[in-house]
Order: sequence, then C-alpha cells, then structure tokens
Amino acid sequence: MSAGPARPDLQTAADPRPAAGLQSLAGLEPSANLQPAADRRLADARAQRRVFNFSPGPAALPTEVLERAAGEMLDWRGLGVSVMEISHRSKAFIAVAEQAEADLRSLLRVPQHYKVLFMQGGAIGQNAIVPLNLMAPFQRASYLISGQWSARSAKEAARYGEVAVVADSRDAQGSFRGVTPQSQWRVNPQSSYLHLCLNETIDGVAFDAPIERGSASHQVPPEMPVVADVSSTLLSEPLEVERFGLLYGGAQKNIGPAGLSFVIVREDLLGKAHRHCPSAFDYQTVSEHASMYNTPPTFAIYLAGLVFDWLLRQGGLAAIAEVNRAKAALLYHAIDNSSLYLNRVEPAYRSRMNVVFFLRNASLDEAFLAESLDAGLFALKGHRVVGGMRASIYNAMPLAGVHALVDFMRDFERRHG
Ligand SMILES: Cc1ncc(COP(=O)(O)O)c(C=O)c1O
Repeated sequence: MSAGPARPDLQTAADPRPAAGLQSLAGLEPSANLQPAADRRLADARAQRRVFNFSPGPAALPTEVLERAAGEMLDWRGLGVSVMEISHRSKAFIAVAEQAEADLRSLLRVPQHYKVLFMQGGAIGQNAIVPLNLMAPFQRASYLISGQWSARSAKEAARYGEVAVVADSRDAQGSFRGVTPQSQWRVNPQSSYLHLCLNETIDGVAFDAPIERGSASHQVPPEMPVVADVSSTLLSEPLEVERFGLLYGGAQKNIGPAGLSFVIVREDLLGKAHRHCPSAFDYQTVSEHASMYNTPPTFAIYLAGLVFDWLLRQGGLAAIAEVNRAKAALLYHAIDNSSLYLNRVEPAYRSRMNVVFFLRNASLDEAFLAESLDAGLFALKGHRVVGGMRASIYNAMPLAGVHALVDFMRDFERRHG
C-alpha cells in the first residue's frame, strides 16, 4: 500500500506539531507555528453565538454543562486524560457513576426498593428489553396507544408475546390529539404489565392522570405493574416513582447525550427475564453489576451527572417544573391567540415539552423555517409523520428562548399573516 500524500488532518510520529484538524479539537488553543489561521479560527469559534435550540432530541444541553465538559476535556481531575479515556472500573469513574445515580435518586426521590440502571440501546431497545424481562408469567402485556411512540412500543412487544391494546387514541384522521380516558379502557387482567408513554414527543400529547386500580374492566388490577416510557418528560417535573413498576427512556432529551438509556425498576420485577434475553439486557444482571456488566457509555454517564448537578443547582424538579410550565403557557397562549398558528391537541393533553403547531397557510412553512433559522431559532421543523412545526422546550431551553420564539412568531404573522 503506498503511503500517498500526507493527510493534513493526521499527525504523524515524525511531525509532533498538532495537525490542523486535531488542533481544533484541542481546546482551541493555537500553537505558535499555526498562526495566524488558527488564531482566526479561535476568534471565530469564540465569537460564535449559541442559537436557541428547539431540537426534539438529541436536544439542547445546558450551556454551563457543555462549558464545564469542554474545560475538563483534556485534563479531567488532574489525570491528564479525558473522562472518556479511563477504565469504567477505575475508582475515579465508579465515583462518577455513583454520584450520577445518587443525584438522579435525589432529584426524583427514587425509593430505596427501586434500582436505577444505566443501559444502552435507547428507548427503542427498551421496547424489546421490557417484554424480554417482564412478559412472563402471562406471555401477554397491555398497551395504551396514545401516539407514535407507544404504537411503536406495542408493535415491538408483539414480537415477544401477545399485546392487548387497552385503548387506541387515534382520531378518524389517524392523528393523536388526546388520550382515551381510563373510563373507556379495556384492560385484560391476564397481562404481565401495562405499558404507557407519558409524553408523546412526536404528537405533542402528554398524559399524567393517576391510574385507577381495581377489578372493573377499565381498571388496572392492583398487582399489575405499570411501565412507562418517559424519554421526553423525565426530570421536567416531579414524578411519583412509586406509581410505576418501571420507568425507562433514552437520555437525549433532558438528561444527556444519546447512547445512554435509563431504567428505574422496582426490585421485585428483577430476575424474571426470558432465557433468550441477552445477559447485557437482563435487568437482574445489569443491576447486580451496578450497570457495569459490560462497558457502559462512560462519557454519557459523566455528562448526565453534570446535568443532574446543574438541575440540583436550579432548585430541583419543582423549580424547573415552574419554568417549564411558564414556557409552555407562553407558547400555547401565543398560538391560541393568533390567526396564523394552530395547535390541535386537546388542552388537557398538551405536552409541556414538545409543542406541535401548524401554520394555517402551509405554503408559508418554508419561509417560517428559513426566517426562524436566521433569527437564531434552530430545529423547529415538525416530525415528518405529523408535519408542521414542533418546538421542543426541554429543561435546557431558557424562558428567554421561548420569548424569542413568540416574538418571532408574532413578527412573522404581522408580515405574512
Ligand atoms: C417517547 C419516546 N420514546 C422512544 C423514543 C426512541 O428513542 P431512541 O431513539 O432512544 O431509541 C423517542 C425518541 O425520540 C421518544 O421520544
């Protein structure tokens, strides 16, 4: 194989100078021999403004958290390496994972008889991992279909056992605009668990009514564990963990980077996995190894730990919930009081995390997206299945970001409406 021309972005042993590509990763500190181009790049990077990021996920992370991670990237705790470059079995990393778990427990007041597991495979992975662990003894589970994600969860679970649909909230047009009230559910009592999604990220539909327990056909038998996908709502407000047997989700909304998934599971639900369940996905095995049965996503756990610490310093979940309620109220009020914008979700089921809205004149969609981007408002395009716009306003979105969006929307309506 010929050596070929030297690639400018690769450092060779003979040339100890940082190459240009590596330079930009190395904390943006230019070395003397790469001036003045590197100086210019450094100045540009520092002058860069952060936009208001409405991405549904992977989503915005608190700027303070990113700054701290950037500051620690090359030399973490004086070790001369980044946290990504050390063993997950080192004392230093185990301390990071333990602190992250302790802070998550403290934020959510997780009772002692629940395990917190850090896993991989995302929420879609959990759509299979949950039935593989919990489908026994009935080989059947009940699913409430309240949006695109719970529909997908039910479909995946059907690969592992029978799925009994409790209710399907789709309207005549196939859209999700609310959640079927429990009085209209039909719960198969011979189900190993009931699965719900508390916040449907694509449809902007949320649901947090207490579950009625009992033996009537719409009630959930007292012993049946409730499993909830909380990918896009966990840590946005207080949640009573004890109402659930298991909570799961991907981290990439309110928790940290993609690649990490979390499970909070009541102890008595461990140890029931199907014999074909991969060991790395058996909750009992993961729990016995303190989420280190195999190499966990260490950087994502570290970053989630920084987010938990940030949340605690904001005053915890009650404090962030107040900000989240104010942000959602501001945006829905602006939509409801406009003649251009429209939200179709029944008010009682409107998500406080993902606000889906449409322009009554859809021919303005492209202009709206282009102009909003110019105004520093990023990622407002709705999900391809639903169309329109979606503003995801997770914890890291400040109230100022929603004010900026509402101001832009009013200005756009004035000019185009
Ligand atoms: C509610 C919900 N469930 C499941 C998923 C899928 O998550 P993942 O991509 O981590 O598998 C998402 C992703 O946006 C989601 O919002």
